[in-house]
Amino acid sequence: MLKRRDALKLGAVGVTGLAVPGGLGTASLRRLRETTAPEAFSVPLALPRRARPVRRTWTTDYYRMTVREAEAAILPGVKTKIMGYDGLFPGPVIHALKGRRVVVRQTNALDMPTIVHLHGGHTAVSSDGYPSDVIEPGAFRDYEYLNEQPAATLWYHDHTHHMSAEMIFRGLSGTYIITDPAELRLGLPMGHHDVPITLRDVRFDDAGQIVFEMDDFQYRNTVLVNGRPQPYFEVAARKYRLRLINTSNLRFFSLGLSTGTEMTVVASDGGLLPAPRPVKNVMLSPGERADVVVDFGAHDPGTRIVLVNEFGADDATRNLMRFDVGRRVWDPSRIPESPVNAPDLGEAQVTRDVHFGFDPQTGDWLMDGKTFDMKRVDMRIRRGDTEIWRVHNKGAGPSVPHNMHLHGTHFEVLDRDGQAVAPHETGPKDTVFIGHGSTVRIKVRYDRYLGRYLYHCHLIDHASMGMMAQAEII
Ligand code: C2O
Ligand code: CU
Ligand code: CU
Repeated sequence: MLKRRDALKLGAVGVTGLAVPGGLGTASLRRLRETTAPEAFSVPLALPRRARPVRRTWTTDYYRMTVREAEAAILPGVKTKIMGYDGLFPGPVIHALKGRRVVVRQTNALDMPTIVHLHGGHTAVSSDGYPSDVIEPGAFRDYEYLNEQPAATLWYHDHTHHMSAEMIFRGLSGTYIITDPAELRLGLPMGHHDVPITLRDVRFDDAGQIVFEMDDFQYRNTVLVNGRPQPYFEVAARKYRLRLINTSNLRFFSLGLSTGTEMTVVASDGGLLPAPRPVKNVMLSPGERADVVVDFGAHDPGTRIVLVNEFGADDATRNLMRFDVGRRVWDPSRIPESPVNAPDLGEAQVTRDVHFGFDPQTGDWLMDGKTFDMKRVDMRIRRGDTEIWRVHNKGAGPSVPHNMHLHGTHFEVLDRDGQAVAPHETGPKDTVFIGHGSTVRIKVRYDRYLGRYLYHCHLIDHASMGMMAQAEII
């Protein structure tokens, strides 16, 4: 028998997995919208502050950040209590150069422990945010990132055991971009024309404060873009690189442009695609990224283009932001033909199965029939071995989509139920969507560090409830 809470879980992502139920819980939101929510497209897109190193050496950029509570101006005239890196919502953007080391000293000014994880980083276990590596209140920890991996859009976020769902939801996430100087020659848009677009939802109470309740998806019906609801962004009539990042706990986005304008996907989670792919639409589950190039120069100045989420049930969850096309400018950027060679992970030596599941007794989401236990190693993998994992979301129980995220490496997605995957899934991935009833095959290799790396569902409320496991690289 499902308890009420489990019924809510079911509704959470919907039976088709992607639809967003409208009814429940919208009443108080409506009231909030009447009083405090701004008109659609009335606030400018916020460009998150760029973190500045406190010190630079020949090899390393040193940063300092404080994890703290703060107030953020998310809704006009309302101060919303948040948790933020340096008190910002979302956190500052770290710009790393490939091959240059970054050390971030994170000081915990919260009254509870925190752990920081760089999502998509090929990071030694000691800096990866392992569940026992806690920063106690008042203490700090230095996280070391070597950036010896392909240029990519990563993000950092809280990873505190059992608490990360709430702490990310309250604001502990930020963008981390690795740039390869060699890649600049490819001609992709850069500088002001290379823009992170972080998407997430949130639940507000009537006073505009964030309400967190585990797995209560249908109440989280305000979508924020770089921390603001339905902003507008004035763009020049030229090409832009948009780094689309889904930092939601549970929400899926299917993103397209209202004018039907093509987007060219140039990169996935872990770096450039073997070949750019024109698309009308990109579907991102929580944690996934896609870099797209959009040519606003194909439109007349004055054109207004809405970034539409096809999974949205109402205006606020559907019409996410608006691009207002301005004047025509000289545009030297281009979409390169074939940016990188396809990564060759070689022949697989090992094949494994991973099963997602659900415990109707406890309402817990499961990984291979279990919830996470720090003392238990769920698989042992030899460093350098290429493996194929068949990840199945076929368990009895609620028909809910999940996804699979691996720490410490990227993988290649081979197929989904034997079918070719979407264009943005053809590059290196660290998070992949697995609908209910479906099996996704990925090719995995850990070739750098030894030790214990987590893998988990990145519907982060599920992970916080235990839908997580660990691989020991030996
Ligand atoms: Cu982005 Cu273990 O997570
Ligand atoms: Cu991660
Ligand atoms: Cu899940």
